[in-house]
Amino acid sequence: MAAILSATGERDPLRTYAVNQDGTLHVLEAARKFGVRQVIFTSTIAVFGPGLPPLVGDDVSLRPTTMYGVTKVAGELLGEYYSRRHGLDFRGVRFPGLLSAVLPGGGTSDYAPLMYYETLRTGGYEAFCRPDSQIPLMYMPDALRALVELSLAPRERLGRCIYNIAAFSPTAQEIADEVARVVPGARITFKPDPARQAILDSWPRALDDTCARRDWDWRPAWDLARMSDDLTPKLAALAARAGK
Ligand SMILES: NC(=O)c1ccc[n+]([C@@H]2O[C@H](COP(=O)([O-])OP(=O)(O)OC[C@H]3O[C@@H](n4cnc5c(N)ncnc54)[C@H](O)[C@@H]3O)[C@@H](O)[C@H]2O)c1
Repeated sequence: MAAILSATGERDPLRTYAVNQDGTLHVLEAARKFGVRQVIFTSTIAVFGPGLPPLVGDDVSLRPTTMYGVTKVAGELLGEYYSRRHGLDFRGVRFPGLLSAVLPGGGTSDYAPLMYYETLRTGGYEAFCRPDSQIPLMYMPDALRALVELSLAPRERLGRCIYNIAAFSPTAQEIADEVARVVPGARITFKPDPARQAILDSWPRALDDTCARRDWDWRPAWDLARMSDDLTPKLAALAARAGK
């Protein structure tokens, strides 16, 4: 799971290549050499590129615009190669943007968790995107459960190595409205950063996860409102420790 994420990755693309692409190859090669049975890969919505329909399935052309996305496409393909060539049980998911009770790690979806965290810490947040920005998102407990369920699924049921998984796809304004519900008086404004907005605009608005639902019974358990109720007290404790 080690990686340099999308927004941070654009600041040092060669390091991103080294960590994400060489790192994945080293994991696969170590698995082959030492007889590891299964490798689970965490891919991303950043493997997609612009010009796709609003609901994006698994098998579309992958034309990422970031080094992060390029290395994740390559990671998917390398894993499939090791599966075919060496019989490695390689499986993975394309995660949406993730929200959790820790600070985000430099992804382009960071505006979503930061809307909660910065509002709890300071009373407001200036989001680096337009209010109509819309990408698939997921709460961390669903993301972790997906990895476990995919890992345990009978191999003969799996029709592919890499699966889209989806939970909810709110616009940034809808997230801001949700934050205002759980943190009354929240002051959320929007000031798009051109570089990160361009990445957001190249990503799908929603993912079609039909194959994951069919092959290993994937179902999300968390929607935006339920996540907000669970996440807000956890981030409030984190914000209280960080101070203003
Ligand atoms: N967070 C998201 O929204 C999201 C979305 C889609 C996919 N993913 C994928 O999920 C995985 C986990 O992401 P995350 O959100 O936990 O990111 P994160 O930035 O919080 O964690 C990445 C970890 O990788 C480690 N790392 C970086 N370079 C390393 C190196 N050279 N050697 C060893 N460790 C190194 C970092 O120390 C960090 O702990 C990644 O593969 C990421 O691409 C995350």
